[in-house]
Amino acid sequence: MNLRTVATTPFEDQKPGTSGLRKSVPDFQKPHYLENFIQSIFNSLDGIEGQTLVLGGDGRYYNRTAIQTILKMAAANGIGKVLVGQGGILSTPATSCIIRKYETFGGIILSASHNPGGPNGDFGVKYNISNGGPAPEKVTSAIFEQSKRIQAYKILEAADINLDRVGTFKLGTMEVEIIDSVVPYLELMESLFDLEAIRQLLTSGKFRMCMDSLHAVTGPYAKQIFEGRLNAPKGTVQNGEPLEDFGGGHPDPNLVYAEELVELLFGEDAPDFGAASDGDGDRNMILGHHFFVTPSDSLAVLTANAHLVPGYKDGLAGVARSMPTSAAVDRVAAKLGIDCYETPTGWKFFGNLLDAEKATLCGEESFGTGSNHVREKDGLWAILFWLNILAVTGKSVEELVREHWQTYGRNFYSRHDYEEVDKAAATELMDNLRSQFTPLKGQTFGFYTIEYADDFSYTDPVDGSIAEKQGIRIGFTDGSRIVFRLSGTGTKGATLRVYLESYEPDTSKHGEDTQTALGDLIQIAKDVAKIQEFTGRNEPTVIT
Ligand code: G1P
Ligand code: ZN
Repeated sequence: MNLRTVATTPFEDQKPGTSGLRKSVPDFQKPHYLENFIQSIFNSLDGIEGQTLVLGGDGRYYNRTAIQTILKMAAANGIGKVLVGQGGILSTPATSCIIRKYETFGGIILSASHNPGGPNGDFGVKYNISNGGPAPEKVTSAIFEQSKRIQAYKILEAADINLDRVGTFKLGTMEVEIIDSVVPYLELMESLFDLEAIRQLLTSGKFRMCMDSLHAVTGPYAKQIFEGRLNAPKGTVQNGEPLEDFGGGHPDPNLVYAEELVELLFGEDAPDFGAASDGDGDRNMILGHHFFVTPSDSLAVLTANAHLVPGYKDGLAGVARSMPTSAAVDRVAAKLGIDCYETPTGWKFFGNLLDAEKATLCGEESFGTGSNHVREKDGLWAILFWLNILAVTGKSVEELVREHWQTYGRNFYSRHDYEEVDKAAATELMDNLRSQFTPLKGQTFGFYTIEYADDFSYTDPVDGSIAEKQGIRIGFTDGSRIVFRLSGTGTKGATLRVYLESYEPDTSKHGEDTQTALGDLIQIAKDVAKIQEFTGRNEPTVIT
């Protein structure tokens, strides 16, 4: 076996975004592109020689090829051992679980999350640290710095490893262990939830559920958990075979992209419960019979009912939500007398709060919910959490949410995305908003008066690190909010995200349609940001 040092030159665009380095597959296929980034990860990590890493991905196109390359590079860089998910498959939360369980140095996850896959789709590389969570800013910036001055990478010339057979192999002096992707994750779920109560619910004949894995990574997990361990009828999991191009779909669990599931849950003879997860298994969408639960409400409902679930019955240390997520959970936290943290967008900001035991549950409006059981958001965990609550209370999804609104009031919430707009125009739009903070204050638009306008900045309460320019907030005197952000995960042009929220304490108005309830705020957002003028668009491409 031959250890080669290959000369290379830096790529300028290897700065990790909200969630790792995400580019199109053809970008990653450029000679040395993947290798440069992987070598930059290894170069930025002190003391990695002899250590153990976890490696796997969401099964998208290029997953297996990249795994073989990374294994050979790991061997050449003196890594001691790599644990690889069978078939190269590991969901993002399962990777986090395995890093923690085996106390490894870190892990590499190959995924572009909910972005489409295939030869012309997207691919991505994320590095997770020893707590199982996404690398924090100081680590990702160190990787980026390395990527700007890389001159060579190391790789072993060796035959490919058989990724499909569980067992231990040697690659040079490095050990490669192919592990079952599902078993450690299922064990963790067993320790948190009353699976027997859920099993009884799913086999009672009175409750029907459908899980849509969107041909992405959760298929094998969902089949083994729902149809295996929980005895739900065969066919409970639909689109359960992971495919390299996700069957041509967009593996994002929302009302737009999970349309097959939405049609089922809103159709005739609809099941009682529907759920979906994304490309790499960290997102979730929860549906009831003819009912959609917004992710912000989901976090609030889980928090309010956590005492019913074995893994959380002793109380929550606190909760955390990303800044654009609605304040529904804040009200629950206030009632429970626990702290509620507001962080920038991206799961990496929850890591310190979870490690320091300041927060137990976390959530984002972008269909992400999770807890201190791992350091990633976790789609199947959220689905099991809901099922556990439904099993214990005997209530329907809609009853639970409506009763929640009765107790706490309703935070109407929606996100409007303007995808693939011109990058320069989007930046100008944001700069223009920034230049108006002072004049905006005190301005009145019909019923609404602006109380503050600012750029969200976050000081981490654990390590004091500061993250600036994390979204422009316009707050109104009645507590309503509009937030503007540019996406950090897209690969084409820019995506402008507009987040809208209003609070309605009056139960008689809780039945109103969300877009209608937010109608005035939607118009104010368009006017204040001059969306049409800057982007040439008057309507969003995706509404969630
Ligand atoms: C998006 C979501 C964010 C989430 C991230 C990774 O990032 O908005 O909440 O953490 O994907 O799943 P964005 O594209 O907005 O930067
Ligand atoms: Zn994801």
